[in-house]
Amino acid sequence: MTCFSRITGTGSYLPPRRLTNADLVAELAAGGVETSDEWIVERTGIRARHFAAADVSSSDLGVEAAKKALEAAGLEPSDIDLIIVATSTPDMVFPSVACILQNKLGIAGCAAFDVQAVCSGFVYALTVADALIKTGSATKALVIGAEVFSRILDFSDRTTCVLFGDGAGAVVLEASDTPGILASDLHADGKHVGILCVPGHVSGGKVLGDPLLKMDGPAVFKLAVGVLESAARATLAKANLTDADIDWLIPHQANIRIMQSTAKKLKMPLEKLIVTVDQHGNTSAASIPLALDVSVRSGKIKKGDTLMLEGVGGGFTWGAVLLNY
Ligand code: UT7
Repeated sequence: MTCFSRITGTGSYLPPRRLTNADLVAELAAGGVETSDEWIVERTGIRARHFAAADVSSSDLGVEAAKKALEAAGLEPSDIDLIIVATSTPDMVFPSVACILQNKLGIAGCAAFDVQAVCSGFVYALTVADALIKTGSATKALVIGAEVFSRILDFSDRTTCVLFGDGAGAVVLEASDTPGILASDLHADGKHVGILCVPGHVSGGKVLGDPLLKMDGPAVFKLAVGVLESAARATLAKANLTDADIDWLIPHQANIRIMQSTAKKLKMPLEKLIVTVDQHGNTSAASIPLALDVSVRSGKIKKGDTLMLEGVGGGFTWGAVLLNY
């Protein structure tokens, strides 16, 4: 009996409209908001991001990433028996992006649902898929992170609108008799809801409250650097491995300073840190599978490498997945 799960294919998709910092600075200046390429690069490492067109939703981005992951795994959509989408920017209040995406893939019948853990969503979703495969409830899963954060940005707030982008990443996770996912570690602390949230909600046919992203950046920064180290260490301990066993660290791509500080705490040379935040900005739940796919396709990550994936974000949520690719 197989009792492990392994990634057998990766894929990603970015909407074609790419804005460099210079493009965004010019657009914001037209609306009276002052920022600069220098500030954005120095404080975050971000140089460009992609924004989806107004009629493009998370399921549209996610389905493109999913098709590429299926192709890489050599599977057809009809082979899939579980779809989990990590997103905080769903197409509708309900049904889930996973159900909409299932239909866009032209399949029906398999389990499909969303996971909402903001920027930790992908490590949450991967852990859930791994558990369902290990218990025999699924054999071939699509795990997707897909976001259109541009929809929830307040373009009059320079402290947040320069940070985020849109995109999607996907993996195929299959039952295997050799270990792929080695260990994972998930956490949340709901007392920090207010430091990163979109407080609006739908009620009586209206949106009540403010449906735009609010973030206390320095508070999130401080929490993030601590929990990313502790989650990595807990995951390594569960797998009986040490820092030195990690070939590649793929943290949530929010801020290069947080990512480098995590690598240093794990005593990893910065060459082992996967960085795509410069080109994608913060794509929330999509950032880890996007970074994974880019690095697999560039030949950086190879079969057999040990990867540490780490998410952190609103909730407050955080977690890590250690895997043999
Ligand atoms: O995805 C979930 C996880 N999210 C994160 O991990 C984000 C964590 N936080 C961060 O990455 C950082 O806190 C930020 C990048 C958001 C902010 O960087 P910071 O170094 O913490 O800057 P700050 O918020 O302390 O602001 C420093 C200064 C302020 O000016 P004063 O008060 O010192 O005069 C801000 O008003 O920078 C100013 N500022 C800007 N200036 C130009 C803030 N945003 C901008 C901007 N352009 N876009």
